This record gives sequence, structure tokens and C-alpha cells, in this order.
Amino acid sequence: MVQLIAYQSKDQGAAFVAEHIAEKINEFQPTESKPFVLGLPTGSSPEPVYKHLVELYNDKKVSFKNVVTFNMDEYCGLEPSNDQSYHYFMYKNLFNHIDIQEKNIHILNGLADDFEKECQSYQEEIAKYAPFQIFMGGVGAKGHIAFNEVGSARDSQTRKVELEESTINANSRFFNDDLSKVPRYALSVGISTVLDNSKEVITLVFGSSKAQILNKTLNSPISSDIPSTFLRDHKNSLIVCDSEACAEL
Ligand code: GLP
Repeated sequence: MVQLIAYQSKDQGAAFVAEHIAEKINEFQPTESKPFVLGLPTGSSPEPVYKHLVELYNDKKVSFKNVVTFNMDEYCGLEPSNDQSYHYFMYKNLFNHIDIQEKNIHILNGLADDFEKECQSYQEEIAKYAPFQIFMGGVGAKGHIAFNEVGSARDSQTRKVELEESTINANSRFFNDDLSKVPRYALSVGISTVLDNSKEVITLVFGSSKAQILNKTLNSPISSDIPSTFLRDHKNSLIVCDSEACAEL
């Protein structure tokens, strides 16, 4: 079952999601031995959510001291210090500004010598902490979740993936529009990793470029052809969108 919440603007939607996450953390009353576990995405959609979470933290409305995070994906071959790596993004937009403990942050290592081993141990670490209280994500124009491109199976787990041309094109805006700089491979949690390990899945869908895929996500048959349709196959799945993304509903 998927529930859709539409806000007028991206910022309003993002503020709602940040407040929802803060409320859930506070209700849960996490401790060192009972942490709140949160799955996190990168991209332009979560940016305002992180901004609002930092504001809530600064206003002392929430603490991340006993929050454990797992990021969804990372490019292969980028140093954490590269400003396009997802490591860099997460520290810049969230982790540097809150009281999260370094040991509680998990991000796939895109520089690992053995990617298979890296993905397997990430998946095992997730299993240790499951169920997550919330897994937050976004969608790509063709419906990818994390880097689960078209064709990704419902039972897919954390693995190395080859990026589609459309994803490379879409993400080149972050690489000065230079396609040759966009990595071709990434490490990504699978569809099953997200859906089968979390009590709640929140998906951010903002902007007119997502109008078509939002319609398909909600109305097309559930299949690997549009990985985001699998979001309907979770008992507590919430899509938060803005009015532009609703244009084709
Ligand atoms: C990338 C990320 C995804 C993200 C998607 C959409 O491909 N790997 O996790 O959901 O982009 O990004 P945006 O929110 O910028 O549209």
C-alpha cells in the first residue's frame, strides 16, 4: 500500500518529511543499545529535507546521538573528498551539522578493493540493524530507486551496478555537465534491501521532471520495468511530492 502526500512546494514537502523523521526519532527514544535506524538518499530531492533536519537539530527539537544511518548508494571510484561523492554530499549537507556519532554512519565504500565483499558486508550490517525505522529515498526519471536501474529485481540486494545512460545524463549536471566525469558504476542497496528491512519507506518526488514517473509509479503494473512501482509492495510506503510532480496525475 502506498500513500501519497502532495504539498504545494518542494520546500513544504521537505519540511513535512524532516518533521516526521524528527517526531519518529523522539517517539522512539533511542539509546546507545536501542538506536533509531535510518536509511538515507542523496540527490537534489533530499537536500531541503537535510536543511530542515539541521534546523530542527539547531532548535534542539531532535538529537541524532543515537541514530544509526545507512546510505543507499555510492559511486565507484570517487574519493570521499571528491565533492561529487555521496560521502562528501552527506557530510556537507547533514553529518557535519548534527550530533551524529561517526561510528553510527554507514556509507558504501566506492574505493573498496573487492566490491563484492564490500556489498556483502554492507548487506550483513544492514541485516544486523534491521528493521530500520525509516528508509528514505528518491526516484530517477525512469523509476530507479537508489541505483536500482530498470530491470532490477524485487529481490535484489546490495551490489555493484552499471549506470544507465539516462542516469549518467541526469547526474552529469552535478559534474559540470561533463559526461566523461560521471562514474559508470556504483554500489547500491537493492530493492529488497530497502523494502524488506524497513518499517516505513518514504520517497521524495519533486519537480516537473518527475511528473511522468510519478504517474507510472502509481499506475503502471508492478514490475522491474519500472523499479519504483515496487514501492507499492510495502505495507507502510509514503510518497511525498510537490504540485509540479503531480501534473500528470
Ligand atoms: C541518483 C541517486 C538516487 C536519487 C536519484 C534522483 O541517481 N543515486 O538515489 O534518488 O539520483 O535524484 P534527484 O533527487 O536529484 O532527482
